[in-house]
Amino acid sequence: MSYDPAFLNTASTRSGITYIDGDAGILRYRGYPIEQLAEHATFLETAWLLFEGELPTRDELEAWEEEVRLHTYVHTNVTQFLDGFRHDAHPMGMLLGAVAALSTFYPDAKEIGDVESRRLQRVRLIAKFPTIAAWVFRHSRGLPYVFPRNDLDYIGNFVNMTFEIGGVHEPNPVLQRALEILLVLHADHEQNASTNAVRGVGSTQVDPFSAVSAGIAALYGPLHGGANEQVLRMLDEIGDVKNVPAFIEGVKNHERLLMGFGHRVYKNYDPRAKLIKRVADDVFAQTGIDPKLEIALELERIALEDDYFISRKLYPNVDFYSGIIYRAMGYPTDYFTVLFALGRLPGWLAQWEEMLSDSEQKIARPRQIYTGYDRRDFVPLASR
Ligand code: CMC
Repeated sequence: MSYDPAFLNTASTRSGITYIDGDAGILRYRGYPIEQLAEHATFLETAWLLFEGELPTRDELEAWEEEVRLHTYVHTNVTQFLDGFRHDAHPMGMLLGAVAALSTFYPDAKEIGDVESRRLQRVRLIAKFPTIAAWVFRHSRGLPYVFPRNDLDYIGNFVNMTFEIGGVHEPNPVLQRALEILLVLHADHEQNASTNAVRGVGSTQVDPFSAVSAGIAALYGPLHGGANEQVLRMLDEIGDVKNVPAFIEGVKNHERLLMGFGHRVYKNYDPRAKLIKRVADDVFAQTGIDPKLEIALELERIALEDDYFISRKLYPNVDFYSGIIYRAMGYPTDYFTVLFALGRLPGWLAQWEEMLSDSEQKIARPRQIYTGYDRRDFVPLASR
């Protein structure tokens, strides 16, 4: 046996989906550079690419968009689960519970050996996830749930379901495209913690709704997707640019982490963070600059010149700037990770499908090195 507690040097699978060169700062989905996909592809196009391995033709894309549109409705009983949550329930906790509950509505999802059934569950998840995510948002605000509209595209529908008030929502195409780019950038990232959770749980042959809810749980953690929320909390706490040097000293003294910095694989600037900075320019041109951006830029400037960060190859990751953008779009801090989950869903499903199609994959069941007692005899309660 080899001992590798956090998988620092263990490949758990062979995969043909996403390529990362962490030293060169390269990310590609199915061979296509993330920069090109962010510029040209829609989110559903990217999802198709991840699932099918090729970019869709125009006909395929239109059929795919239509199929997704036909599955956006969610059983209204799900609203009753959401109603049961406290008004201040964390959106990720609600999302996790609601997606897991979907498995009970689709018992056929257990047919994981049936290729066509797997495809249908992927469509259902891609289509219903924005509806549930939007309802989670509405619950947090005490607003009535808004149902999907067939005249809107994927992103437009999601944004409408979150922000519509009194039947009215004025879409802002720049902000909607910015959100779409962010989702494309988050769509897959090879064997990250949440994908590993989806694969691990999925390897037991459970249905994909349950496997994806395991991914949501992993993403919730502050070292993974939850970092985008923690970055904003950190910027709030720093409060002013003048407090940045003292904060950095605290990080260097190991009192805390600089959230949104560092990555297991990237030992160079995260290519997604570079692209996100450009998206931020577009968004702030619409919404006006958030003063938090100034603090973030100063944190980055000081960190990139400091030997603590240079020697450890710590650079901004995808979560460093995304939260400031989501905030400018009108999403509350505790909702940011839900947006990450919406983006990562195609990756989880593509990796789940790849795992199930791979005859070498078995139930994920690591071994251990036992460090406990040797054999000893039971001591009766009276003698202890
Ligand atoms: N701030 C300060 N020091 C750090 C940070 C950070 N953000 N990240 C790593 N280090 C230090 C760490 O203390 C260690 O120092 P030393 O060698 O003195 O013990 C060294 O850098 C190596 O770090 P590590 O913890 O061994 O690295 P890892 O690969 O196990 O962890 C990480 C990767 C992302 C969990 C970590 O960098 C981290 O906790 N970052 C902050 C949370 C964050 O931004 N997470 C988002 C990750 S990217 C997208 C996503 O998955 O959501």
